[in-house]
Amino acid sequence: MESGALSRAQQALVRESWQRVRGDPVQHGTVLFRRLFDLDPDLLPLFQYNCKQFASPQECLSAPEFLDHIRKVMLVIDAAVNQLENLPCLEEYLYNLGKKHQAVGVKVESFSTVGESLLYMLENCLGTAFCPDVREAWTKLYDAVVKAMRHGWDTLPEGD
Ligand code: HEM
Repeated sequence: MESGALSRAQQALVRESWQRVRGDPVQHGTVLFRRLFDLDPDLLPLFQYNCKQFASPQECLSAPEFLDHIRKVMLVIDAAVNQLENLPCLEEYLYNLGKKHQAVGVKVESFSTVGESLLYMLENCLGTAFCPDVREAWTKLYDAVVKAMRHGWDTLPEGD
């Protein structure tokens, strides 16, 4: 994660803006995932709990297991914000998280759409405070997280 390290000023922008989001992770995470399903409805079938498929994004967005996934996503972002000065310490965790997502059938390309949805959620929450500098700082952080996760797709699944 060296090349994409955030400057001190960018770290401050990310920390400050996250303060307004972290207090209500489920609400803001729901905005993120509603946007994600709007942009790519094909992601919906990847979320199955007890082999049950959701009939609609709305059904998924109100399922307790899915709300847990939203909490998990927001916790990972929270961890990254807390470790802005030392992102490499998350690399191994993120690599394993990438591997888990590869195993459940997520395509690495879908993480670009997740990134778009994250920026949408931040803009939705922060309004005019989501200025170009804040957007750039978040883009850099998200890119660093995905860069670490994508190594999980580099290794072949066992047995190949
Ligand atoms: C294309 C978007 C995504 C899809 C389709 C997806 C799908 C899944 C699925 C099916 C699971 C297993 C079931 C569950 O725990 O609910 C899972 C687990 C998880 N996801 Fe995602 N996910 C996505 C994005 C993300 C992102 C962006 C993050 C965080 C940056 C994330 C963090 C997690 C975590 C922490 C777990 C639990 C892993 C564990 O059990 O150790 N997911 N995801």
